[in-house]
Amino acid sequence: MSLYLPFGEPADVLICGASRGIGLALCQQLLARDDVRHVWAVARRATQSPGLAALAEQYGERFKRRDLDACDEEALTALALERQQSGAPLRLVISTLGVLQQGEARAEKHLGQLNLAGLMTTFSTNAFAPLLLLKHLLPQLRGRQPCCFAALSARVGSIGDNRLGGWYSYRASKAALNQLLHTASIELRRLNPQACLLLLHPGTTDTELSRPFQANVPAERLFSPAFVAERLLTVIAARTPADSGSFRDWNDQPVPW
Ligand SMILES: NC(=O)c1ccc[n+]([C@@H]2O[C@H](COP(=O)([O-])OP(=O)(O)OC[C@H]3O[C@@H](n4cnc5c(N)ncnc54)[C@H](OP(=O)(O)O)[C@@H]3O)[C@@H](O)[C@H]2O)c1
Repeated sequence: MSLYLPFGEPADVLICGASRGIGLALCQQLLARDDVRHVWAVARRATQSPGLAALAEQYGERFKRRDLDACDEEALTALALERQQSGAPLRLVISTLGVLQQGEARAEKHLGQLNLAGLMTTFSTNAFAPLLLLKHLLPQLRGRQPCCFAALSARVGSIGDNRLGGWYSYRASKAALNQLLHTASIELRRLNPQACLLLLHPGTTDTELSRPFQANVPAERLFSPAFVAERLLTVIAARTPADSGSFRDWNDQPVPW
């Protein structure tokens, strides 16, 4: 029997990066489950997302949308407090936030396209924000109850698998995310032996993030967000605490660091 899904008692889940793409699909699938009490859907513009608005209409009080930049520690403190006061245990957190080419962030093809602002935006969002999210939710994850914190990384963050080069900021920010959360998994093991911290590669998924880069992706390798959400929940359900700190893909295969 799975330790992490389904939950033994109605529990809360929190998706950070929920306003579109894979995060939105996860919200849809989690709200459809009767072992989920509340879904907390967090993004910078959660309340402006038409997809989340439709879910709010359908699921009412069970669905909580919050506008929050996960780089903002004051906002994270307030969110954690509000979630704590809602009563139900927090059993699953999935960080689906990320940027590739947005604002200052750039998918650089060569060194000449790098700049400090782009590097800093990409690192703050992709590597630091999920770690800060974990920091602020940690009091709700420690103890002896089974719980899972999963963050979407990317295979291109693998140093061992890097044969193509390019995408300096994105690749390096995901490699940093992997190291930061792997380190946190060692600390978390002491704070909750039933917890599992995972890094997950979703596969190339048809979302706003990947859209400018889909031209050379064969149709059968371009997944829908709904397919990926279902796969990620299956991978999480198959885990045990011994897997904490590992990096796996949508097909439940380990990814090299
Ligand atoms: N799509 C792919 O092919 C692919 C492949 C490998 C890995 N991934 C990873 O999978 C994850 C999900 O990607 P996706 O394709 O679903 O991307 P997406 O459609 O662009 O969604 C990204 C989400 O992150 C939120 N977000 C960005 N910055 C944030 C911040 N500072 N605070 C809070 N929320 C923030 C965005 O909402 P707001 O703009 O409203 O904040 C949005 O909801 C990302 O980590 C990505 O790197 C994707």
